[in-house]
Amino acid sequence: MKFKGNVNLKELRGRTALVTGASRGIGQVVATALAREGMNIALAARSGEQLELLATELRKLNVRIIAIPTDVGDEAQLKRLVETTLRELGSIDLLVNNAGIEAFRAFHLIEPADIANTIHVNLTSTLLLTRYVLPHMLAAGRGHIVNMASISGKYGPAFGAVYAASKAGMIAFTQSLRGELHKSGVSASAICPGFAHDGGIYEVIKERTGRGMPWYVGSTSAKTIARAVIKSVRYDRPDLVVNFPALRPVFTLCQAFPRLGEWIVRQTTFRFMKRAATRE
Ligand SMILES: NC(=O)c1ccc[n+]([C@@H]2O[C@H](COP(=O)([O-])OP(=O)(O)OC[C@H]3O[C@@H](n4cnc5c(N)ncnc54)[C@H](OP(=O)(O)O)[C@@H]3O)[C@@H](O)[C@H]2O)c1
Repeated sequence: MKFKGNVNLKELRGRTALVTGASRGIGQVVATALAREGMNIALAARSGEQLELLATELRKLNVRIIAIPTDVGDEAQLKRLVETTLRELGSIDLLVNNAGIEAFRAFHLIEPADIANTIHVNLTSTLLLTRYVLPHMLAAGRGHIVNMASISGKYGPAFGAVYAASKAGMIAFTQSLRGELHKSGVSASAICPGFAHDGGIYEVIKERTGRGMPWYVGSTSAKTIARAVIKSVRYDRPDLVVNFPALRPVFTLCQAFPRLGEWIVRQTTFRFMKRAATRE
């Protein structure tokens, strides 16, 4: 068995990326890392002002950057995002489906509308945007789709049911795509970060709970996640679990011994997740 990686995207310089959720947090750091690799980038999120600030900063790296204010929950805006990117930048070689929202809450208390919205923003928009981008990648014979999932998609934690369901969906979607696209020149990867200790969703939860995850669950940084995005494209990795300490052995154990796995996850995460879910 030979692992050649995505031969069409080993060199990122001069290629074009579309990054959603680029206005802050992980998306902003990923976009910056891609611009440093010499990629031209379309930045998408709802906050146009934040996108413009980032675009101005990244243009200093001598790459073409456009900011396209977009609500990924609106299909018409997704269509327009793809059309504008193709018109302005000529191609989409890399799509990073990063926009996402958290939904940590006791499941019986969560508003039904919030369930639908979380699935829509995290999962449905990923599928729809990919659906609009993929025909162009296939016609060009090259491309890569990176889906920003989470360790919550690898094993659903207590009080994270809706978020975990959306992220597990992103991982399964990536696996199906890879099977379908094999040898087409286009591929897909899922990134499964642990909690990023330097910004984003986790920071908000930490503020809410007044403390972080226990050390043995670990964490990661937005920069490490950005490096994982680049690695996943260059080496065509199916999925990368980004966390220190390494969690893949734990997930493997959970698969092989589900009852032991659920005990381990409960012991290590239950108290933190319960605090994260308490908003009153
Ligand atoms: N931080 C972590 O610890 C962690 C761990 C694992 C996975 N992740 C995943 O990583 C991704 C980024 O998370 P983050 O921590 O960087 O979160 P964040 O700081 O809250 O940023 C979320 C980004 O998504 C955008 N977004 C949210 N709703 C949107 C919508 N309807 N339309 C367009 N853009 C939207 C936000 O921009 P606007 O508000 O301007 O629209 C923002 O740019 C998410 O998918 C998250 O699930 C994060």
